Amino acid sequence: MHGSIYTDPAIFADEMERIFYSTWVFVGHESEVPEPNDYVVKSIGPQSVIMTRAKDGSIHLLQNRCAHRGNLVCEAPKGNTLAFRCQYHGWTYANNGDLLGFPYKQGYDGVLDKSNITLGRVPRVESYQGFVFGSFAPDGPSLREHLGAATECLDRLARISPAGEVQLTAGWLKHRVKANWKMLLENETDGYHPQFVHSSIFSVATSGIGALYSENSTALCRDLGNGHTENDLRPEFRRIAEPMGWFGTTAEKVPNYVQAMRDSYGKAAEEIMIDGSPHVMIFPSLFIAEIQLFQIQPLAVDQTVQHVTCMQFKDAADLNRRVLQQTIGSVGPAGFLLADDSEMYERNQRGVAARNPEWVLIARGLNREHTDAEGFTVSNNTDETTLRAIWRHYMTLMDH
Ligand code: FES
Ligand SMILES: [Fe+2]
Repeated sequence: MHGSIYTDPAIFADEMERIFYSTWVFVGHESEVPEPNDYVVKSIGPQSVIMTRAKDGSIHLLQNRCAHRGNLVCEAPKGNTLAFRCQYHGWTYANNGDLLGFPYKQGYDGVLDKSNITLGRVPRVESYQGFVFGSFAPDGPSLREHLGAATECLDRLARISPAGEVQLTAGWLKHRVKANWKMLLENETDGYHPQFVHSSIFSVATSGIGALYSENSTALCRDLGNGHTENDLRPEFRRIAEPMGWFGTTAEKVPNYVQAMRDSYGKAAEEIMIDGSPHVMIFPSLFIAEIQLFQIQPLAVDQTVQHVTCMQFKDAADLNRRVLQQTIGSVGPAGFLLADDSEMYERNQRGVAARNPEWVLIARGLNREHTDAEGFTVSNNTDETTLRAIWRHYMTLMDH
């Protein structure tokens, strides 16, 4: 790829139109608005979007923009309300987007028909395993078609819960970086860097993670199609064959969880607890790294916010507590892992602005990638098969 793909504001503007405002983009999870009239402020690219649960239980994605003169209608990050009232001139909207009324209405008699005015609605809203996606394109592939093979990863994630349900209820951290959003997208699925960038945390935390990302690892990287990619760590976890080994712990440390899994899944529980949670990047902005979830929000060609939360699994209190602690240690404000990556994004952004050489190389593993039994292209976990998968899909969206 040419270095300017990360630095050219015109390309960024084009990407917002052709990717973030055209394809399916992850917005949030149904568990973030569990009760009728709950809402959270979310985003699709730079656009502010309110995810609401109306009183009939339906989920809506509304543009955070007053139909009068464009002020934000919702300032609080979350809450519970039947209506949003614009602070500027007091227009009020129901939590399904309908205009309820405006003050001093004589000035609009014969001018406006209230029933024609609503908050902007994201035209398509669909969810899978509770993950809510929005698309600004009124038609096109369904969410299921877009997710394709990545649905299996979300199914695998849900099965980590004895109740089969993920809950995104731990709250969100935001990290703002001076880098193009695609630097983050690539890094999430890059199995080449961990041993170098994260060597400090691996050395102090006696973690087995580093070894998963080495040339000797049996873990694989996989092109799932539609720009989705996976680092499949299961071959290593199966080799170790320890329930909860994927989480760096043992069954004895989380006895209630293990019992609940056995009660729910019977014999299959052992396999689920050995295989663990997926490591999957869902194009263009949702990344699940076993126990953490990241949403990449592009703001400008060289400004990106990474929203981070940790997975919580329904009916898994003892596991959840540990997941939260590990997340604070790795991606919290004083965490070791994300700080390393953020530094790399920003250095990379400065580096690619150089005039010479102009190109970035994404050829690693071209000599050894191959097709697995299900027809997916796979390669050594340190290879750039995943990056090529992202760019191939990117080109199809940007070319038309
Ligand atoms: S801009 Fe919202 S009421 Fe005027
Ligand atoms: Fe990293």
